[in-house]
Amino acid sequence: MSKTATDNGLLAERKARFWETTGYDRAFRGSFGGYMTDVEAAALERLMGQERVPLLLDLGCGHGRFLRWLAPRAARLLGLDRSARLLQIAAGALAEAPLAVPCGLLFGSAQELPLADASVDRITCVRVLQHLPDQDRALAEACRVLKPGGTLILVQYNWVSPHGMIRAAKLPVKAALRRLIRLTGREPAFDEPTRWTSAGALRRQLEAAGLTVERLTGAWLFPLQYFRSRRSNDAWPGFLGIALGLEKLADTAPFSRLGGYLLVRCRRP
Ligand SMILES: C[S@@+](CC[C@H](N)C(=O)[O-])C[C@H]1O[C@@H](n2cnc3c(N)ncnc32)[C@H](O)[C@@H]1O
Repeated sequence: MSKTATDNGLLAERKARFWETTGYDRAFRGSFGGYMTDVEAAALERLMGQERVPLLLDLGCGHGRFLRWLAPRAARLLGLDRSARLLQIAAGALAEAPLAVPCGLLFGSAQELPLADASVDRITCVRVLQHLPDQDRALAEACRVLKPGGTLILVQYNWVSPHGMIRAAKLPVKAALRRLIRLTGREPAFDEPTRWTSAGALRRQLEAAGLTVERLTGAWLFPLQYFRSRRSNDAWPGFLGIALGLEKLADTAPFSRLGGYLLVRCRRP
């Protein structure tokens, strides 16, 4: 694993440390985490299909949750993250069960990519952008390292959704708690504030970074089907049955725009 010294300030440090201290990788070891990974992989499939590109960068790869899924879709893979610990976990998994294609792991920041201009064919970035203190800079960096015609695939959270609004209501409470905990000299064990975006705002950000948006949709990706699949009886009466019906409705335009996720494919012209 090569290590590139980058410093994007205290906030970026704290945000990256959060993922280490909360054991993000452990959340995906159980069957629910596995289910969410499958659901998100299916969203990636919708955005990028099975086309194989020469070099694919998984930006903010964390513990390498998608590297194995991405391997058939690239001749060479790179995973980059700001957490050395999560990269170590990714490296361990790759050493145990190597991929069929070469895969490099890089320590670095999305806001200051340690990569040459026009060197990457495709970037995937799942659940990362909303956590970056300077999203515009990260998007400009993604555009810089993409080859002309290269694609950026984003999966991230949507502010304009029930999930986003519940979270927005919790933000001031969390901020007050965070301040209180820091007064006692300790570091809060919950997330730094993140900036969720809406479909329209994200489109403007992408265009300002010089990218051409090819596809931008909302998606619900609710885990309801998971609970359904755990039941032996296929018929789901009552509240959950209604919720499943709503979920199906929500996967059609224009309702999908209100889903908790935003799925984006954009291209460097
Ligand atoms: C929610 S996790 C998503 C990880 C992975 N993409 C996944 O879906 O499993 C957010 C990731 O972003 C990484 N991260 C945070 N700040 C970063 C930065 N400035 N540059 C690169 N990665 C960063 C964290 O270390 C963490 O691995």
